Amino acid sequence: MSEPFPKPLDARTRYCAVLGFPVKHSASPAMQNAGIAELGLNWRYLAFEVRPEELRPALIGAQTMQFIGLNLTVPHKLLALDMVDTLDESAKLWSAVNTIQFEGRDRGRSWLPLTHFEDAPPEKIRSRGYNTDAEAIVRSLREDLRIELRGARVLLLGAGGAGRVAALKLASQEVAELFLVNRTSSKAATVAAEIRRRHPAVKVQLGYPRGEVDLAINATSLGLSPSDPLPVEDKQFSLRQALALYDMVYRPAETPLLRAAKAAGCRTANGLGMLLYQGAKALEIWSGKPAPIAVMRRALEQNVYGS
Ligand code: ATR
Repeated sequence: MSEPFPKPLDARTRYCAVLGFPVKHSASPAMQNAGIAELGLNWRYLAFEVRPEELRPALIGAQTMQFIGLNLTVPHKLLALDMVDTLDESAKLWSAVNTIQFEGRDRGRSWLPLTHFEDAPPEKIRSRGYNTDAEAIVRSLREDLRIELRGARVLLLGAGGAGRVAALKLASQEVAELFLVNRTSSKAATVAAEIRRRHPAVKVQLGYPRGEVDLAINATSLGLSPSDPLPVEDKQFSLRQALALYDMVYRPAETPLLRAAKAAGCRTANGLGMLLYQGAKALEIWSGKPAPIAVMRRALEQNVYGS
């Protein structure tokens, strides 16, 4: 299949960008520009290294220049909560902003995406913050691992930022049982308490399960470096106990954990799908059109793995 052909740059070209610090490793420009070209939009998606103390002026600059929208990555997702003009329910729920859409006010005083103001500029512009990360976890589990979460028994390794969101999102999908394991056990206990409060029907326990689980998830950062130990203690849990394993780490494509899980007979997937689906949702928010998933996935794989 040939690559989608971008529209030539001209004075009507509109911009989106990811802001992060650092940002040079980001695969989002490759993925989003492929999606934008496939949709036939006269847009470009850029990456800017913005220090946290400069985030506010960067957001004002993008808004002033009528960018379509922004993605935010480390360390901006929490900071932006207080910097956008309005928050979508998704950003309120997860207390983090990874996507911003700029909206303009028309003469009828309703707020519309800036794409509605091709010919006449809006009277006023504001920013709206979204979170597309949490939804992306569930979509990736469903589409990449074919997991039915409702009623599932799940082991979750890691209770940092990503682990907490995954745990709460899985609980909201009515998993039956959640087993939480984290190096710093107090953090797992805090997440467990939050789940008991918000999702009392879910049975949540600290520590490894006895017997089988439908799914084990690695939400720790172990696996990023070749010298990392496996995130699971083999004396406490055998990967043969898991029907499926999801590793949020996607660089390298096959972590030692994924290799061991395959050898143990698990269905496996890495975290590239999370990156894909959070980006696809952002493009859908900005464009109002379904994202071209296959094209975006191919661009992402090419950027991250070179194949
Ligand atoms: P993220 O936003 O990617 O989740 P994070 O909040 O820093 O990043 O969380 C990193 C996760 O990896 C945590 O669960 C962390 O465990 P701690 O809460 O005990 O710090 C886990 N992690 C990182 N390095 C680890 C290591 N060497 N051994 C075990 N767990 C580790």
